[in-house]
Amino acid sequence: MHPHLVVPNSEVQNTIDLLTAEGWMGDNLRIHASLDRDTRLIPLSIQAPQALPPPLNEFPIIITSGIVEDRKRPSWLQLLRDMIGEQLVDKHRKSWPSSHELIGDMMILKIEESVREFQPQIIRSKMAANRNIRLVLEDRGVKGKYRVRDLRPIGIRENGKIAPASIGSEYPTKVIVKESGHMIVCDPASAYYSTRLQTERISTAFEARRLSKTIGTKINVADPFCGVGPALAHLVNIPGLVSSILASDLNPMAIKLLHENLSRWIGMPSDTEVTGITEWKKGVWSGVADARELLETDLPIGYWNLLIINLPHKFIDFLPLILPLLDSSKPYVVRGRLVCGNKEIEDIRSLISQYFPDGSDVVVDPRSEYSPNTKLCSVTIRNFATVG
Ligand SMILES: C[S@@+](CC[C@H](N)C(=O)[O-])C[C@H]1O[C@@H](n2cnc3c(N)ncnc32)[C@H](O)[C@@H]1O
Repeated sequence: MHPHLVVPNSEVQNTIDLLTAEGWMGDNLRIHASLDRDTRLIPLSIQAPQALPPPLNEFPIIITSGIVEDRKRPSWLQLLRDMIGEQLVDKHRKSWPSSHELIGDMMILKIEESVREFQPQIIRSKMAANRNIRLVLEDRGVKGKYRVRDLRPIGIRENGKIAPASIGSEYPTKVIVKESGHMIVCDPASAYYSTRLQTERISTAFEARRLSKTIGTKINVADPFCGVGPALAHLVNIPGLVSSILASDLNPMAIKLLHENLSRWIGMPSDTEVTGITEWKKGVWSGVADARELLETDLPIGYWNLLIINLPHKFIDFLPLILPLLDSSKPYVVRGRLVCGNKEIEDIRSLISQYFPDGSDVVVDPRSEYSPNTKLCSVTIRNFATVG
């Protein structure tokens, strides 16, 4: 018996995209129609959390026997078995890279040292099972103050042939991805971007729409750790939602890509320079900036209705420094993520609450394991009651 998500037919493609990005879709069972044919049952993988985040939590989960996928091409593990034999695959069964992230035509995965000797076979079988993949990159963790992933090309498909990547060769890593219908230019080797945060971004867009409705006007959105701008993609592309944006980041490469994105989304000139924060057109501020110094720039303070803080290791340090950006005379929302010890969640929630003596609602929601002793949490701070 396996858990399946019960999804209305009109929502199936969106849901498949989200589940695939998160690595939560079961791959040995088939998506099939419910008995009344009004919905489809999508199998969930064992990695999927029991309580799915919004918008996936709108759909019920049922436990049913499922239908085994027998029409598909062989899985990468089947191909690996053919290459190195059942015995070796079983011997290392806990070490194979069972999950991977797909960004455009690139596959990003981690390789444990215990199976390093099988790297050529891993690449070959993963690429054979995923025919649209051009480049396989090994993820060696995030590095430096820009939180950029240390990505090493390890496999390439050229003229239909799969080969190990050659040392010293350059392989382009700049791609365009589609998230909920929005096109995003990114280059995960030079600026942070992860497809796995799509559900977070959808939740932020949901909060933004509610906030705009409550205030009764378009809202001003500040994203001072914006990266290439994926959170903004879900906001500025919604007609009538956003009035002004602040999009800044410490990483100049992120800002370069952000400007390409803003030119696609809101018609900013695509050759906009990479400088410090500048108001390029009315209500559009962007540029390279250390968030610690934002209050010393010409930016409007006490102006922003939605503040996004996506710097999970330093959320608590930065929150008090940039809070003056918020317009606290109106309803506001802060959305972010933080890493904290498994047993510290309530303490962190109380600490955050101290910065909001107006009685804002503070939710710290553990979303996934970050390490054996820490959790990655989603943070939402709402104040819908404030009156100027
Ligand atoms: C986890 S990434 C999030 C990027 C983006 N918001 C997203 O969701 O893809 C954190 C970002 O914060 C930026 N950053 C790190 N320290 C910073 C600082 N002191 N001021 C501004 N940005 C900073 C990094 O360059 C990186 O792009």
